[in-house]
Amino acid sequence: MPALAHPTLAFVKYWGYLDEKLFLPLNPTVSVALDAFYVRAEAKESRDGKDHVYLDGNELLGEKAKKPLKLLSFLHEHYNVPPLVVHTESNIPMGTGIASSGAAMAAIALAALNYSGVKVNERELSTIARVGSGSAARSVPGHFNEWVYGETHEESYAYVLHEREHWSEFRVVTFIVSREHKKVSSYRGHSLASANPFNVPRVLEAWKHVELAKRAIDKRDIWALGEVVEKDANNLQAVALSSGIIYFLPQSIAIMLKVRELRESGVPAFYTLDAGPTVHVVTLKKYVDEILDAIDWKDAVVSGVGEGVKLE
Ligand code: PMV
Repeated sequence: MPALAHPTLAFVKYWGYLDEKLFLPLNPTVSVALDAFYVRAEAKESRDGKDHVYLDGNELLGEKAKKPLKLLSFLHEHYNVPPLVVHTESNIPMGTGIASSGAAMAAIALAALNYSGVKVNERELSTIARVGSGSAARSVPGHFNEWVYGETHEESYAYVLHEREHWSEFRVVTFIVSREHKKVSSYRGHSLASANPFNVPRVLEAWKHVELAKRAIDKRDIWALGEVVEKDANNLQAVALSSGIIYFLPQSIAIMLKVRELRESGVPAFYTLDAGPTVHVVTLKKYVDEILDAIDWKDAVVSGVGEGVKLE
């Protein structure tokens, strides 16, 4: 049975490792699942005793296979899962800052466990998916969620803060500035951030941002949420810059400036960027058309709030 997962967009971000093998972050994070993007995964037994992972029909090799093979090794070791052939398909441009690996690892974890007849609860599945890619912890619960701070494998998991129905007007407009794969992986970015003293104030602020973001989601207050979202994104880009990485492109900055202009004219629109040039704009349904008209960038995708990973 295939499993389907959505990527998550972090309002408060994870950047830098407490543990770089288990992908434990230095601060808790808050995110939302994006329903317009997905990864589907289906697992079958392997005939040659080795794991193989395919994306849209092509086998993933080398660097691209690292995360899923790490996750599958963890499943062999701890859950007695046999060697597998996993087929995935996705509509997410990879390596552009849309957390495609988070959705992929959540879908692969569920598909592999289900194929092997292993049942785990949502919290445990979140910890397992996290071993493949940190942000996968959040794609397991989906909806509006918090990934709690934890210093051990078992303690670092994400759970639903509010289901999508809580705030049905909430939207994210994703402007795909470039479909080219980024040059610096998020793994490298995280590693450099862990060793960068400039990341310390970012982490301290993120702890405060988590409380502010949670309160804003509770109250469905887009202005309060947006303010935190934009600040937290700026902090991440500042740390990346200070580590020598430039993730944004000139077009990303042009969109960020447009978002600021829109806001000055009273539109609740707030930008956020991850490890790539993609600009996500957080807003409400009734402002989406105005934002699309003002920014006028063809490669744009509108998401509502997505669910957690599930079997289809
Ligand atoms: O889980 P990874 O390795 O793809 O890390 C993603 C980190 C950011 O997207 C930049 C921030 C976040 O919290 O999603």
